[in-house]
Amino acid sequence: QIVRLEDYRPSDFLIDRVELDVKLHPTETKVVATVAMRPNPEGRPDAPLVLDGDELNLKAVALNGRPLSTDEFEVSPQSLTIAQAPRQPFTLTIETEINPTANTKLMGLYRSSGNYCTQCEAEGFRRITYFLDRPDIMAVYTTRIEADREDAPVLLGNGNPVESGTVDGSDRHFAVWHDPHPKPSYLFALVGGRLGRVSKTFTTMSGRAVDLAIYVEPGKESRADYALDALERSMRWDEKVFGREYDLDVFNIVAVSDFNMGAMENKGLNIFNDKYVLASPETATDMDYAHIEAIIAHEYFHNWTGNRVTCRDWFQLCLKEGLTVFRDQEFSSDERSRPVHRIAEVKTLRARQFLEDSSPLAHPVRPTQYREINNFYTATVYEKGAEIVRMLKTIIGEADFRRGMDLYFERCDGTAATVEDFLGAFADVTGRDLSHFARWYEQSGTPRVTVKGHHDPDAKTFRLDFEQGTPPTPGQPKKDAMAIPVALGLVAQDGTLANTACERLDSRGVFLFDKLTDSITFTDVTSRPVPSLFRGFSAPVKLSLDLPNEELLVLLRHDTDAFNRWQAAQTMAMRLLTALAKGIHADDRDIDALAGALCSFMARDALDDPAFAALVVTLPSEADVAQEIGQDVDPDAIHRARSQMRHRIGRSCAEPLQRFYDTLSDSGPYSPDAASAGRRSLRNACLDLLAAADPGTGEALAVRQLESASNMTDRLASLSVLTTLPGSVREEAIARFGDRYRNEPLVLDKWFTLQAAIPEDGTLERVTGLMQHPAFSISNPNRVRSLIGSFAMLNQVQFNRADGAGYRFLASIVLRVDELNPQLAARLLTAFSTWRMMESTRRSQAEQALRSIAQKPNLSRDVGDIVSRSLEEE
Ligand code: ARG
Ligand code: ZN
Repeated sequence: QIVRLEDYRPSDFLIDRVELDVKLHPTETKVVATVAMRPNPEGRPDAPLVLDGDELNLKAVALNGRPLSTDEFEVSPQSLTIAQAPRQPFTLTIETEINPTANTKLMGLYRSSGNYCTQCEAEGFRRITYFLDRPDIMAVYTTRIEADREDAPVLLGNGNPVESGTVDGSDRHFAVWHDPHPKPSYLFALVGGRLGRVSKTFTTMSGRAVDLAIYVEPGKESRADYALDALERSMRWDEKVFGREYDLDVFNIVAVSDFNMGAMENKGLNIFNDKYVLASPETATDMDYAHIEAIIAHEYFHNWTGNRVTCRDWFQLCLKEGLTVFRDQEFSSDERSRPVHRIAEVKTLRARQFLEDSSPLAHPVRPTQYREINNFYTATVYEKGAEIVRMLKTIIGEADFRRGMDLYFERCDGTAATVEDFLGAFADVTGRDLSHFARWYEQSGTPRVTVKGHHDPDAKTFRLDFEQGTPPTPGQPKKDAMAIPVALGLVAQDGTLANTACERLDSRGVFLFDKLTDSITFTDVTSRPVPSLFRGFSAPVKLSLDLPNEELLVLLRHDTDAFNRWQAAQTMAMRLLTALAKGIHADDRDIDALAGALCSFMARDALDDPAFAALVVTLPSEADVAQEIGQDVDPDAIHRARSQMRHRIGRSCAEPLQRFYDTLSDSGPYSPDAASAGRRSLRNACLDLLAAADPGTGEALAVRQLESASNMTDRLASLSVLTTLPGSVREEAIARFGDRYRNEPLVLDKWFTLQAAIPEDGTLERVTGLMQHPAFSISNPNRVRSLIGSFAMLNQVQFNRADGAGYRFLASIVLRVDELNPQLAARLLTAFSTWRMMESTRRSQAEQALRSIAQKPNLSRDVGDIVSRSLEEE
C-alpha cells in the first residue's frame, strides 16, 4: 500500500477519448462512460486491464458495444479488471451508479448546499467511474449532464458548451460540454445547481473573446465582483509576464460552501471554496481580499502550469504546485508592494514549512514514497517548491529564467512532465549543469547557514566564512551540501553604502554557496561593515550570524533591502523573546534599545510604507518563538514573554502609536487596494500595542472602533484586541458580533477563530460550547477549521495545556471527523506535529493522545498515515 517513485512505469493502456453521460439525481446518479482505449506500445504486451474505482457500484459493462458476462471481468468497489483486453483499439462502456448526497468525503461527485459539484484531484475521478485514474493518462472529454430543471437550472462542464436543451416529455434538461485539450482525469469537473452569476468578456492578446463568469449562491452576485476583477488582471498578467494566453471560449468559476481545500483548477471550470471568492467590505477583511486575488490567480495560472503541462505522476506534484505558487506570488508582488508581499510569504514559509521540516512529517519537495497522496498537499510541496523556482531565477537571472520557461512550455505542452523536464529546459537555455541544484527537490530539512565576518583593517579586507548543514529528517540521516544562492551586500556602520567589490559575487550581487564551507573576501573595506545576507530571503534556510544588537539596528535603519530591515528587527526581538521565555536574564537596556529603535523607525519611516511599518512593529508570534526554541518548549513562558515585550514596546512608543492611530483612519469609502489596506494594518497594529501598554485605553479605543468601523477589517481588528482583555465588555462585544452576523457563515468563521484563540483557561470549554452553535457543522470543512483547527494551530497555550485536555479534545474530534471526511481529519491531526518539541509533561500527554488515535480500528488511510508518521521514532 506504499507507492514509490522508483516503481513508476507507463500505463499498459491509453485512453484517447471519454464520453461521459451523467444523469444527476440526489441519491441515484447514473454515469455512463464510453471510453476509447488502446494498448500502450510502451506498456506490457499481455497485461490485464485494471481500472481504478472507489466505493463504486457497477451496473453494466460492455466491450465494443457487446455487454460482458460476469465471467469476462472481475469487479469490486475498488477496481474493475478485464483479464483479456483486446490488443487493438477498443471501446469500453461502463455504467455506474453513485450517491452524491451520501458523499461526505467531498471527493468525487457530491452536494454542497443542494448543488452538485465535483473534486477529482488527486484520486476522486475513480469515485465517479472506473478509470485509469492517473495523471499521465490524458484524454479528450465530452460530457453530457442531465438534471431536473428546477433543481439544477445551471449545468457546467469542462471546455466549451456545445449543446443544451430539454429532455422531451420530462422536467429534465441537459447540456453537453466538449473540452478539446487532452487532460488527466483529476482535471475533470461538472457542476449542476441553482446559482447566480456575474460575467464579463475578456479579449486575449491575440484578439480572441473569452466569456468569463463566476457562479455563486443566488443573491451574493455582487460579492463576486472583486474575484472577477482579479481573474481579469491575472489573465492580463500571464500574457504580459509569461506570454501565456487562455485557450477556450469560456472560463467559469463556481463557489461552493463545502470544500476540502482552497480551490481547484479543473480545465475551464475552476471550483472554489466560497471563502476565496466572496467578498464585500461588510464581510471580508483586507487579508481576505488579498487571498482571493492570490487564489484566483493561482488557479488561473494552473491552466498552463498544471493543465497544458501536467504531471507524470503524483510525485511530481511540486512541478505544478511549486511553480504555480511562485507565479501567483509574483503576480501579487506586482499588483501590491513587493517587499511587503515577500515578508508575508516568508512569514508563512517559516510558520508552516520550516515547522513541517523540523517535524516527524518532514519530506522532500518531491517525495519518494506515499501511502496517501492527499497528505502531500503540504507547505513543503507548495511553499518550499515555490522557493526552489525563485532560487533558480535568482541564480540564472530574469532573462534566462523567461527563456527557460518558454522552452519548457514549448517542449512539454500537452504532456505529463517531470521535475527533470522542468530543470532540463533551464539547463539547456543556460548551458548550466543544474544537477547539484536539483538536490533541493530531493533532500528534506531546512539547511542552516552559519556565517562569521572578519575585518582586517590593515589589509582592508572583509571576509565572510560560510558553513552549512542540514539536520537529519525521516529517512535521511546524512545530508549533502546544497546549492544556496546568497544575495548579499555590506552596509557601513554609519549607514552609507559600503564597498561590495568581491569577485565571487555575480552581477546581481549573488554568491552561490554550494559546498559545506566556503569563504568570500571583499577588498578595499576600510572600516568594519555590517553584512546584509540573504537579501529578499534569497534561499529557504536558517541563518546564524551573531551580529551585535547595535549592528542589527544599523540594518533596520539603513539597509537598502527592505526585507532585511524587517528581518533585523525580528532577529533582535526574537533574541529577547527566547531569552525571556527561557528565564535567561534579558538586559532591560536591550529591550529599551529595541523599543527606542522601533519608535524612531515609526517617526521617521512609517508613512513611507505603512504596511511595511506594521510588519516591523509586530513581534514574532508565540509559535515562531516556540519553533526557535525548538525543544523543551513551555508555551506559558512564551506567552508571558511576548505579553511583557508587547507591553514594554507599547509603553515606550505610546506617543507615535497614538498619533498614528489618530491620524491614519480611513477617509472616504472602503477600498481594498494595497495602500489603503496598509494604512489600516498599521493603525490596527498600533491599536494592538496601545492595548498591550494600557488595557483601559485599549478597551476604550477598541470599543469605539468596533462601533464606528465601516468595514470588516477594522471591526475584526478591534474585536480581536478586545479578546485579549477579559471582562464583561469583551463578552458583550463577542455576543453582539455573533448576533449581527448570524446569517453570514464566513463571518462567523472569523468569530469562531477569534474565540478559539483566546489564550485563557476556559477556552476549551468555550470551543466545545460553540460546537453547539446553530451555524457550526462538523461536516463543513470551513467551520471545523475555523473553530477547531484554529484552536489547535493558533492557541499555543490552550491547545498545549499541561493537563493534556487540549490534546484529548483534538484526538476525539479527529476520530469523529475521520468517519465523515478523512482528508479533513488528517489535516486537523497535523496540529500534533510539534509534539516532540514540548517539555516532558506535555510531550507525554500528546504522545498518549496520538497513541489513542493510532490504536483505533478502521482508521482511514489519511489519518493512519499521519498518526503513524507522527509517532515514528527519529
Ligand atoms: N490543485 C489544487 C490547488 O492547489 C489543490 C487541490 C488538492 N485537493 C486535494 N484533495 N488534495 O490549487
Ligand atoms: Zn495549485
